Amino acid sequence: ERLPALLCAMPKAELHMHIEGSLEPELIFALAQRNGVALPYADVEALRRAYAFTNLQSFLDIYYAGASVLLKEQDFYDMAWAYLERAAADNVVRTEMFFDPQTHTARGVDIQVVIEGLHRACVDAEAKLGVSAALILCFLRHLSEEEAFETLEQALPYATKFIGVGLDSSEVGHPPEKFAKVFARCRELGLHLVAHAGEEGPPAYVWSALDVLKVERVDHGVQSAKDPVLMARLAKDRIPLTVCPLSNLKLCVFPDLKQHNLKTLLDAGLVATVNSDDPAYFGGYMNENFLQTFAATGLTAQHAWQLAANSFEGSFIDDAAKARYI
Ligand code: HPA
Ligand code: ZN
Repeated sequence: ERLPALLCAMPKAELHMHIEGSLEPELIFALAQRNGVALPYADVEALRRAYAFTNLQSFLDIYYAGASVLLKEQDFYDMAWAYLERAAADNVVRTEMFFDPQTHTARGVDIQVVIEGLHRACVDAEAKLGVSAALILCFLRHLSEEEAFETLEQALPYATKFIGVGLDSSEVGHPPEKFAKVFARCRELGLHLVAHAGEEGPPAYVWSALDVLKVERVDHGVQSAKDPVLMARLAKDRIPLTVCPLSNLKLCVFPDLKQHNLKTLLDAGLVATVNSDDPAYFGGYMNENFLQTFAATGLTAQHAWQLAANSFEGSFIDDAAKARYI
């Protein structure tokens, strides 16, 4: 069968992954031991058994617990390096990685430790793996806009080490417009802007991500299919949707992969992409997302080519670099 080989071999960009979501159970336990952190799970198997999610919040509770083992700059480096090696194996040639500084600063870890460790892995990835890697700082939307401003302030001395900001964590009840002022400030600073919207939340959240926050991409965005006027807007403005099929499956956004709407989004002319979101928790890195989604939904080689092209079009590499890939 040639389609699976094409899916694996084709160069691709990953535009939606949370680096804390790449922490495999084995690395969580190794870092817990190295740092003397106690975990509420007896062993790797017990932790993995807890990965039975019913919605976004049931995942986030375990994801934040897993991140509690990260204390030193080397921990952040080791986590990112493990992901970057795995991404290279899937022929990811460009990745734009989210990180959640507030998950760490809330535990007393300095933001410098977080950013320097992750950034050093990005620099090494270019030199040693041929993977172009960049960082996007995410604000936690269950916290206040004032706390987002404090985080931005703490991060600005390291502003050359991240390319943009995003918005993640618990979506419903925390609409994009809650962060209107801090996104306006980030826009003035020349940062790229993205936000999670329409994962579990309604099309109205995608509209406000576009019109209030003025984001360049929408993370997930799959609920947009419920609003034909929004679908037309996303197509007309070529706003990329960073879709995460295995994440959507594991968090019960769709009851099974056969029901996933990726094909609907692509066939409507949207710039949809495939991404892994939190690969250590959702059962697959990039190629596993491609293989399982194509097997379940009957996408074709033409769709594969489109998804690869979309991933580079939607990325924040410069136009000359895009021209080399598309
Ligand atoms: N949605 C919201 N917040 C997140 C996610 C997600 O899929 N992954 C990590 N934080
Ligand atoms: Zn996400």
